[in-house]
Amino acid sequence: MKKVTVKVSATSANLGGGFDCLGLAYELYHTITAAESDGFSLKSNVPAPRDKTNLIYKAMNAVFTLAGCPDRNVAISSHSDIPQASGLGSSAACIVGGAVAANALCGNILSQRRMLEICARLDGHPDNVLPALLGGATAGVMTEGGGVEYVRCEPSGIYCALATPDFPLETQKARAALPDTYSRADCVYSLSRAVLAFGAFATRNTDALRAIGDKLHEPYRAPLIKGYDEVRSAFMRSGALSVCISGAGPSALAFFDKPPHDVKVPDGWTVRILPISGKPVTVEISDI
Ligand code: HSE
Repeated sequence: MKKVTVKVSATSANLGGGFDCLGLAYELYHTITAAESDGFSLKSNVPAPRDKTNLIYKAMNAVFTLAGCPDRNVAISSHSDIPQASGLGSSAACIVGGAVAANALCGNILSQRRMLEICARLDGHPDNVLPALLGGATAGVMTEGGGVEYVRCEPSGIYCALATPDFPLETQKARAALPDTYSRADCVYSLSRAVLAFGAFATRNTDALRAIGDKLHEPYRAPLIKGYDEVRSAFMRSGALSVCISGAGPSALAFFDKPPHDVKVPDGWTVRILPISGKPVTVEISDI
């Protein structure tokens, strides 16, 4: 019998104008242990279904099914330091952690590219799962044929501070707030800043990060995040280069060119200074 332990990063998606495309991994983790077992069990340090409807198991079972052994029983133990429904990729970490654990138990039958595709499809977009799997900063797309294409870089000299409020924002609700169509001007505003942001990460040009921004999701989501404008102003007063909504929110992400200190945010918000992780998801396998 085998046991695998997978450690997967928290992530920020969007990064300003890169809606559903750009992402960044942090040194903040979700650790999942899955052991071969005669029966199914699941322990978790966070509120989540304890049966096979749990997202970690759903991702595992997607891999088990492709490997020809659906509904395989496992004993799962999950410990997440990533706040849930906070815009820090907690769902993507469940998906990537589950899929990678299952693949390891199946002798790594699926290639990394296939894993990227499965995880992106399960999450609905590639911007969180890519950096969760690969580390660093990623720009990725799902192709018409169901594949994933991406580029990746390892930013340095960029410091990230995340402010998270004491209320969650479900991604489904944050997506429902978005319009169906956009003006050409708003598209150009965002896509040009997405290119600039990834270029800034790749070339370590922190000054370019001063210009990032978005008109595809932030104007519609910021009103759902009570206190966002105050937090944004507090970060800018602390010397941030720029501030954006992390993923679908409600966390705010601020970029700095030196380690931030003395950031004062409104009551009810927690600030985390999170190093960018250049490391991919890690997997350890052992006999039990
Ligand atoms: N790109 C996604 C969104 C990330 O903003 O809705 C959250 O899953």
